[in-house]
Amino acid sequence: LGLKHRNTFGLDAVAELAYEIHSPEQIPAVMSEIAEQKLSWRVLGGGSNVILPSALPGATLLIDILGQEILCSDEEATYLSVGAGVIWHELVAWTLENGMPGFENLALIPGTVGAAPIQNIGAYGVEIGEYIDRIEAFDAKDHAFVTLPKEACRFGYRDSYFKQNPGRFIVTKVVFKMPKAWQARIHYADLAKQFPLDANPSPEEIFLAVCKIRTHKLPDPKVIGNAGSFFQNPVIPNEQYETLLKTYTDLVSYADLPGKRKLAAGWLIDQCGFKGQRMGAVGVYENQALVLVNHGGGTAEDILGLAKCIRDKVHDKFGVTLQIEPNIF
Ligand code: EPU
Repeated sequence: LGLKHRNTFGLDAVAELAYEIHSPEQIPAVMSEIAEQKLSWRVLGGGSNVILPSALPGATLLIDILGQEILCSDEEATYLSVGAGVIWHELVAWTLENGMPGFENLALIPGTVGAAPIQNIGAYGVEIGEYIDRIEAFDAKDHAFVTLPKEACRFGYRDSYFKQNPGRFIVTKVVFKMPKAWQARIHYADLAKQFPLDANPSPEEIFLAVCKIRTHKLPDPKVIGNAGSFFQNPVIPNEQYETLLKTYTDLVSYADLPGKRKLAAGWLIDQCGFKGQRMGAVGVYENQALVLVNHGGGTAEDILGLAKCIRDKVHDKFGVTLQIEPNIF
């Protein structure tokens, strides 16, 4: 099966064997088959955070489990169960239309609901992990369905228990806890700039503002292939940050974590002169240096080749090592 339209980088990839999963009940039989034939396997959701090789050996599970329902509601919160195959941005719009604000800062993040907790998607000071009550998944190690409460998911910056245990879990459903109390979170400079100083924007206004910023900064994968931020923002010890700041007084960073400093990888890459550069069929996006793009016909090797140039240069100049964010299959 050709996967060019199932990965936002638009890489020409062919899966040797693909299973379309529409319901969790299909999974045990499929996984037994895979185990019996000793096949390698992986899960593909929206394909918005992956780098695919031209041939994917073994089995590829395409998760199309749809549906969303309100499970219950108490004074404090509404509990919402959502299938792993639901498109994340569509869920964001649906929750807002149905009076459950909270996800507005996370508008327009590509991908599916099932993929979102794996790397704990986040934007403009909000991470999805805050809203998760529990996750239902198939555990391939024990060949059984499991329910992981939020604490077991070990969410961190672009990190989770699922990411730490690759090749083990297949997320089938996510149960969200949407608190009834709501407060605008527009403390991120880029978002704050969209409103007057004393503004008290509604969730819908924040949603529209986030859509506007993202549309400008991030290329539409339907037009130019990309996987959003290609590198994580590197976290370094405070002492190293203080030293760097002496040379680079305009260094962009965030004080999100105690004793540490998160640097804007986009700024580091930009300073190395990569923004808008091309290397064959691939390149660095002109409006955001953190995003690598496929102008058409690029391969995983091309992207990883460019990524290596960027990592080497950033390391030489700043002594900081960048980590690739998308999963390399
Ligand atoms: N910057 C530059 N040049 C660039 C890009 C950025 O100088 O080419 C500087 C700017 O000063 C900018 C700062 O770096 O203010 C940070 O850039 P931006 O606000 O675009 O955010 P980011 O740190 O690059 C992170 C997430 C994004 C998320 C935004 C908004 C990571 C790896 N990325 O990007 O997530 O949308 O913050 O909160 O944490 C994604 O993961 O795919 C993604 C898009």
